[in-house]
Amino acid sequence: MEKKIITDAIKYITDLFSTNAGGHDTEHSLRVWRSAMRIAEQIPSCDYDRVALAALLHDADDHKLFATEDNANARAFLRSHNVTEEETDRICRIINSVSFSQNRGRRPETIEGQIVQDADRLDAMGAVGIARTFAFGGEHGRPLRESVQHFYDKLLLLRDLMNTGAGRELAEKRHVFLESFLREYLEETGE
Ligand code: ADP
Ligand code: NI
Repeated sequence: MEKKIITDAIKYITDLFSTNAGGHDTEHSLRVWRSAMRIAEQIPSCDYDRVALAALLHDADDHKLFATEDNANARAFLRSHNVTEEETDRICRIINSVSFSQNRGRRPETIEGQIVQDADRLDAMGAVGIARTFAFGGEHGRPLRESVQHFYDKLLLLRDLMNTGAGRELAEKRHVFLESFLREYLEETGE
């Protein structure tokens, strides 16, 4: 049984994404939350609620989807649940440390940030990562070849960028699957 603030955060992002972003990213955020909790289970020193809220809200102010400033959507939710200003700032710092564009590839300073970043990266790998890559390419009207190039530009690099041991373990299987998909794809296309 999840805490009320967690079930409310799930409702909040489901509504936020369906109203403002065509349903974009609700499922991604839920998967990131689940992976983050799996990693967090292996790290008793971390703050589980902080990990859960940062994971669920990590794309709530994504610039590709929303024109908000200063994590306004995440802050609005946390304020409505009487989360202290100090804790809200901590959660927003985690969210901002996860995004590559905002932290220019630096490793998040806190263990909670490292966990959420690993969980976000896991979702770009494996079967789901492959599905997301071709969905992204399709949305942008790109030929398959360009999405395949994205494997080399990003997806195959993620395994070695994982922050946590538990994240690395989960990444291994997904990495092997990426490689086997690529092998099969290149054999079929003769590229
Ligand atoms: P997130 O913010 O969750 O880390 P992004 O918004 O950067 O993810 O990307 C969403 C999905 O689209 C990811 O699975 C990513 O790998 C994929 N993607 C991003 N850029 C490209 C691209 N140039 N070609 C194909 N897929 C891409
Ligand atoms: Ni994400």
